[in-house]
Amino acid sequence: MALEILTRAQICSSLRFWRHRLSAPNKSFDPKQVSALNADSVDEMVVGALAALNSATDLNSLKAARLEHFGDRSPIALANREIGALPPAAKAEVGKRIGEAKARIKEFLETRERELTQVRDNEVLLGEKVDVTVPVDRLKRGARHPITTLMERLSDVFIAMGYEIAEGPELELEWANFDALNFPKDHPARLMQDTFFVESPDSGVVLRTHTSPIQVRAMLERDLPIYVVAPGRVFRTDELDATHTPVFHQIEGLAVDKGLTMSDLRGTLNHLAHVMFGPQIDIRWRPSFFPFTEPSAEVDLKCFVCLGESDSGGCRACGGEGWIEWGGCGMVNPKVLRAVGIDPNVYSGFAFGMGIERTLMFRSGVSDMRDMVEGDIRFTAAFGLEA
Ligand code: PHE
Repeated sequence: MALEILTRAQICSSLRFWRHRLSAPNKSFDPKQVSALNADSVDEMVVGALAALNSATDLNSLKAARLEHFGDRSPIALANREIGALPPAAKAEVGKRIGEAKARIKEFLETRERELTQVRDNEVLLGEKVDVTVPVDRLKRGARHPITTLMERLSDVFIAMGYEIAEGPELELEWANFDALNFPKDHPARLMQDTFFVESPDSGVVLRTHTSPIQVRAMLERDLPIYVVAPGRVFRTDELDATHTPVFHQIEGLAVDKGLTMSDLRGTLNHLAHVMFGPQIDIRWRPSFFPFTEPSAEVDLKCFVCLGESDSGGCRACGGEGWIEWGGCGMVNPKVLRAVGIDPNVYSGFAFGMGIERTLMFRSGVSDMRDMVEGDIRFTAAFGLEA
């Protein structure tokens, strides 16, 4: 084979070819890409990047501009990758140039991020602004039933005098509701037309017809002396009308101590009437009968309209009576004390029971009891939180 004579150009090209295959770190070296590393084109990249970042109007468009001009495939990133392909002498200079360019873009990017984050935050604050003075539809609140509130007010009067609250079950032993209270077996109140019996009349269990069985329970369970009040729900087989309801409420009072007399009872009820209705509303007693008290009395309140002056029938509130019936009371019958193991020769007691519905009618001028059981929010709401 004849020796070929190579031209100088051929030698150079061959040398370049081998140098890059043997020693160049970047095998895809391309002189066209390297031209991107000169100062002008790097400046151009910076100017392009800054312009794009500058014209972004929100964080989303800023992100797009960042990916395009500062992301992995951005001109500056591609240029950065080419540094390795340069001859050692050029590396330092171009590396510095590109490093500075990247720093400028990065700094401006951070500035824009801060600015546009601020813009976004301001928009969110404005967009989510709530005018607390604008009227809105609210869920209607419920209201406490005035019977509940009134029971608490009545109880409070006694709490202030040192009484305790006593409780008993609504489903009560016939023994506590009647027998222990000295109701004879054939007492009319036991009959079917008054009492709700449970299952059968001889089950021994009734829906309590009054709060007085709580007296029995209190005397059995508590140490002497006893001062208790017991507000609660009671049941009688009455038809619902303006002045009757089969489910109603009473508040029972019981005091058992040494030396209690009817004047203690009188003073207690007078105090209750004055606190609840005002100092001009006195009470009066009429002789009455309850099997569990002896002597017994009906308690009337002075009419709040005519203040007891109407004896000619002119007053519509009391029908001309001058007084309105409120409840019953008396000295605890010694037979009842004995039934629960208290010696009537040492202790005496007084008891009273008032209808709460009646008290509400009197105190707040409610004329129809049906309003109290129908559950119409307009009725209860009218009382607010206070009775
Ligand atoms: N329990 C009686 C009733 O419901 C009222 C009362 C209570 C009478 C206490 C005297 C003493 O009618």
